[in-house]
Amino acid sequence: MKIAFLNPSGILGGAEISLLDILASLREAQPDWSFHLILGGDGPLAHVTRALGVPTSVLPFSPALTALGDSGSDAPGDAHLSRFDLFKSVTSALAGSFRYIVRLRSALRALEPDVIHTNGFKMHLMGLWARPQLVPVVWHIHDYVRPRPVMARLLRRYASQCRAIMANSNSVAEDVRSVCGVSPEVCTVYNAVNLEYFSPDGPRIDLDSLGGCAPPKDGVVRVGLLGTMAWWKGHKTFLQAISLLPPTLSFRAYVIGGSLYQTRGSQYTVDDLRSFAAELNISDRVVFTGFVDDPASAMRSLDIVVHASTRPEPFGLVIAEAMACGRAVVASDAGGASELLNQGVNALGHPPRRAFTDSAVFFWASLV
Ligand code: GLC
Repeated sequence: MKIAFLNPSGILGGAEISLLDILASLREAQPDWSFHLILGGDGPLAHVTRALGVPTSVLPFSPALTALGDSGSDAPGDAHLSRFDLFKSVTSALAGSFRYIVRLRSALRALEPDVIHTNGFKMHLMGLWARPQLVPVVWHIHDYVRPRPVMARLLRRYASQCRAIMANSNSVAEDVRSVCGVSPEVCTVYNAVNLEYFSPDGPRIDLDSLGGCAPPKDGVVRVGLLGTMAWWKGHKTFLQAISLLPPTLSFRAYVIGGSLYQTRGSQYTVDDLRSFAAELNISDRVVFTGFVDDPASAMRSLDIVVHASTRPEPFGLVIAEAMACGRAVVASDAGGASELLNQGVNALGHPPRRAFTDSAVFFWASLV
């Protein structure tokens, strides 16, 4: 069995961590199978997969195709992408896409895969359009489709040509069925977590010095949000919740992560969030560490890991990872994330976007 995996970028977001776990597990379970990964952009993912022994090639998307994305179309304020912006980026990406399909087809022809596994919206389509001789294509869908005006139409139009669809939660599976229909079958495959890496005991990181701050005094509770800067990951809700905590409470907040994506309208920058913290008058209570490449050590350095997505989270890998690290977890209780939460047992849930409830929940979590 030879599988070609296609991923749109080389960054290490949640969907890529999930892909890495699949590759590592398949290599162990099926030593005779061969794999090849094709990326639409270079980045740390390529180094990790090569170190794992998976041949990886980078077939770069054009800059216009890299920047194309419709996830900002329902974003608020500064992250919002208007229909006109979207139209402009689709048209400028078109020519590059045709050339890309030709190059991808010849790369796939040379690999002669038995199955093509695609991870990420652009590759779901590219994989189908470029596959040689009707090689079966499996879509692994990590995000909701319905809120994306362009992608939802395209996936609906082409879904019947792929062999099977995997979704990372029942909630995403339902969403995909509601857009693409019942054929092909959509099955839920939850993400795994590497328990050797994400474990309660192990190294910690000095988050304060990463953020250029002196360490806090003993007994200070560390509460932090880790993740990409996608606008819907709830950084602003988190900061608002921090601003509502009584100043007498001994805590320090951490925003861990940087802007990874190159897709227009998809994320905040650290500077946007710093200004927001300044507006809320909490700059002295928040540390911005920037991107950290060892999330388990970062989580172990916190007392409470917060997940604050403002819209339903498709799965919420960070929630499962923080649980595996034995941290107190506060999570936004909606979408696929709800499938992971057992309220009051493995996490404290709160409704998305409710800074006041979040703040009460942090307060509670800090006492437990
Ligand atoms: C995407 C989803 C996230 C999920 C990850 C892995 O990044 O937004 O919820 O945890 O994929 O499936």
